[in-house]
This record gives sequence, structure tokens and C-alpha cells, in this order.
Amino acid sequence: MKQLEKVTLGDQTLKNRMAMAPMTRSRANREGIVGDATVLYYTQRASAGLVISEGINISKEALGSPYTPGIYNQEQIDAWKKVTKSVHESGGVIYAQLWHTGRVGHSSVKNEELPVAPSAVAIEGQQHFTGDGMKDYETPRALTTEEVKQTIQDYKQAAINAIAAGFDGVELHAAFGYLPNQFLAESSNHRTDEYGGNIQNRNRFVLEVMQELVNAIGGDKVGIKLSPTIPYNSIIHTDPTAQYTELIKALDEMPLAYIHLMNSIFPLDQLPHYPKNVLGTFGKLTKHTIIANGGYDAKTSEEELEKGIASIISYGTLFLANPDLPKRFELNAELNQADRATMYGGTEVGYTDYPFLEAKQFANA
Ligand SMILES: Cc1cc2nc3c(=O)[nH]c(=O)nc-3n(C[C@H](O)[C@H](O)[C@H](O)COP(=O)(O)O)c2cc1C
Repeated sequence: MKQLEKVTLGDQTLKNRMAMAPMTRSRANREGIVGDATVLYYTQRASAGLVISEGINISKEALGSPYTPGIYNQEQIDAWKKVTKSVHESGGVIYAQLWHTGRVGHSSVKNEELPVAPSAVAIEGQQHFTGDGMKDYETPRALTTEEVKQTIQDYKQAAINAIAAGFDGVELHAAFGYLPNQFLAESSNHRTDEYGGNIQNRNRFVLEVMQELVNAIGGDKVGIKLSPTIPYNSIIHTDPTAQYTELIKALDEMPLAYIHLMNSIFPLDQLPHYPKNVLGTFGKLTKHTIIANGGYDAKTSEEELEKGIASIISYGTLFLANPDLPKRFELNAELNQADRATMYGGTEVGYTDYPFLEAKQFANA
């Protein structure tokens, strides 16, 4: 199987081409500090060629949902050190996903402060999980130009902190409608300064953050996750092909470890101008290593790798439910099914108790 072959990623050699996709599990404490269960959870999944952590808040302002971890103070960094040490001892490679939720938050989980965003435009037609029930989205407060520049510095500091915490690299979460994605899209960015207006200006925030990350920790430790065709969280582009083509060309000018591309996992019937084949449209544009994500199983991932655009496939739900996913693929073994009710928040149940293959199943295979 191609996905069980080694591959180079940045300054690392990965033992296989299977990445664990970033997944928020909301198991940190109220101060954004992860505990022993999180150490175990990631260590259980260290047979992935690459583990990408859940989204980690880069600052207090970045937080949008309760019990999500941070990496902006020493206690948080020290807690992550236990995770990275344990994953490394089990032979794993782990990147930190850097997260700022922007308008995908709620004042009730942010000390009554409104979420910040490129512009004062609310998400419509969805509600937000607050720990105190589901609530309608509020209209966020638009960041001043000064604050935008400060936020870019917050990302840089978070990357430095991630390396101090023992992570092998960082991934900018620029997908799924979070802050960087809010800068990219016309539906959420109505700014009139240098961070809004034409494509170049709307790309500026992401590119400046990436440049700072590269300058701070080196391009061979920096990746980015993009979802050019996902309309979730009220993200609509007039011309996603033009926008992301320009963005990827600019990213090609930087030394990077990878670009992580998410397929269209939402129906696009209402958006006929959106490209259907994300990998074919955008993956071909870059010289960087591509990690493909979204809906892959053992068979479709192999077919994707054969096409030669992506060299790594990431799995979300499958890794959540199957800590030994590479072994299961290798043996063509049965897969555990993920339990949606325990995905976010709660205890070890649905977190660290998904079973590994039994020794006898190994023997039978
Ligand atoms: C419980 C859960 C939490 C997630 N949290 C994040 C996250 O923090 N950051 C992110 O980039 N994607 C997040 N995702 C999306 C996954 O990384 C992935 O893109 C998605 O699950 C599609 O991949 P799959 O079809 O292999 O599951 C999450 C997905 C799930 C199921």
C-alpha cells in the first residue's frame, strides 16, 4: 500500500503517508490547559505518520468555544510538553494547529466580550455551541488595522511557543470559516484598509501570518490548511478559483512543509461556480507537499495517492475512532465507528476508550 510507505515532510521523514487530521475535542480545562487524558489520546494515535493537533487558541481573544486548549501562557505550554514528549517516545511526529476562531465564537464564552472579525458581519443560519446551550451568532466587532497586525504577531508568538512545547511544526488553520478564512472571503471581509477589497488584499492576512511563521520557526516546520470550497460558517466567495489560485501561487514563493487541502464535503448545488475537484484544481498549482483531506477511506485514499497530486492523506473521524488506523488499513481489518455524542467535551468516554485491534485479530489477519 502506497500509504504505508515513508515520505518526507519538511525536515522530517514520516513512517507512513497517513496523517491524523486536526480535531477539536474540547477536553482542556477552563484555562485551556490539557491534561493526562489528552496525553494518552495523542499517544494512542502516534502510529500516524503525522499527528496534527486539534485547533489550539493562539491568544485569549482567539478562543471561541469552551474547553478548547491554548498555547499562549507557560502553564499551557508545559501541559503540551507532556503530549509531545509522549508522542515522540512512541515514534510519532506532531504538529500544532494554530487557531483563531474570529467570529465563530460567542461572548458568553469570552468573558462577555464580543468575538472579533475582519468586519462586523454575523454568521447566519447557524448557532454556536456555548456550553450553556446553542446560541445565535452575534455581530462581531471589526478588528482595527492595529489589532490585525497584533493578531499576526500573536500567531508568530504561538508558533514560537509551539516549538518550545516540543511540537515538530505548526499548521495555520485557514479553513472552515475561522479567522484567516474570514479574511479571505468577500462574505466576511468588507474592510477598506490593506486587508480588504481586492483578492490581493483579502489574501494579505494569511500571507503575512505565514511569512511570520516561516521567519520565526523555519519554513520546513510550517503548513497551512485551506478549504477553498467549504461554505460553512457563512463563507462565500465570488470566485474561489481566482482567489485560491493567487493565494497558492504566493505560498509557493515561501519555503513550506505542506499545504493541507480539504475537499468539498458540503453540497455545492447552490454554488455552481465552485470547482468540484479541489485537488485537481488547486493541488496541481503548487510545488509544495499536498496533504489531502475529506471523506477518504482505505480504498479512495490509495486512489488519490496514485493520482500523484497528494503525497499524504489525512483522516479525521477514522483516526478519532481507530487509534491504530494504519495497522487496520494494513490488515484490512474492521473499523470502529465514531460516536458523535462524545466528539466534543466530556470525559475519557469516546476519547481514549476506542479499542485497538485485539492480539487475536492480528493473528487471524
Ligand atoms: C470532532 C471533530 C473536530 C474537528 N476539529 C477541527 C479542528 O480543530 N481543526 C480543523 O482544521 N478541522 C477540524 N475538523 C475537521 C477535520 O480535520 C477534517 O477536515 C474533517 O473531519 C474531514 O475529514 P474526514 O472525512 O477524514 O473526517 C474536525 C472534525 C471533527 C470530526
